[in-house]
Amino acid sequence: EKEMTLAIIKPDGLYDNYTDKIKNAISDSGFRILNERLVQLDEDAAMSFYAEHSSRSFFSDLVKYMTSGPVLIMVLEKENAVADWRTLIGPTDASKAKITHPNSIRAMCGKDLQRNCVHGSDSLQSAQREISFFFKEKSPGSGSMGH
Ligand code: CMP
Repeated sequence: EKEMTLAIIKPDGLYDNYTDKIKNAISDSGFRILNERLVQLDEDAAMSFYAEHSSRSFFSDLVKYMTSGPVLIMVLEKENAVADWRTLIGPTDASKAKITHPNSIRAMCGKDLQRNCVHGSDSLQSAQREISFFFKEKSPGSGSMGH
């Protein structure tokens, strides 16, 4: 069964020029990029996207980080895309990923628990919510922020 998931190259990943390397890893692993947008999130959009973390102590830092520069939003398609993309990016804490998952994307371009350079939807339901958040309507390229 083909699945879609939402991937984001976070501000640190773009700033440090990892886009091509990440896209190579994406295609080498059999994902197809169905749609993409370069977006500068504002505070409202970041807060709404990460609403499930709103009570966490790191929430305001997370919003600051995710609004610190542009992000590249991508819809990836593949069989088992949600779980396979999470496997490819590796653990949340990039400093640990460098030790335990050295071939993961976060080991390659992330720095620490917060600046982990990429996002992946954590379930099929999250993927659907997150994809419609950024690609509200119609054809590729015509996405608008869904909030
Ligand atoms: P991600 O798992 O993609 O989505 C939530 C993000 O919040 C996570 O990546 C990190 O960027 C950040 N994050 C998660 N846990 C912490 C934490 N304990 N401290 C700081 N940032 C965190």
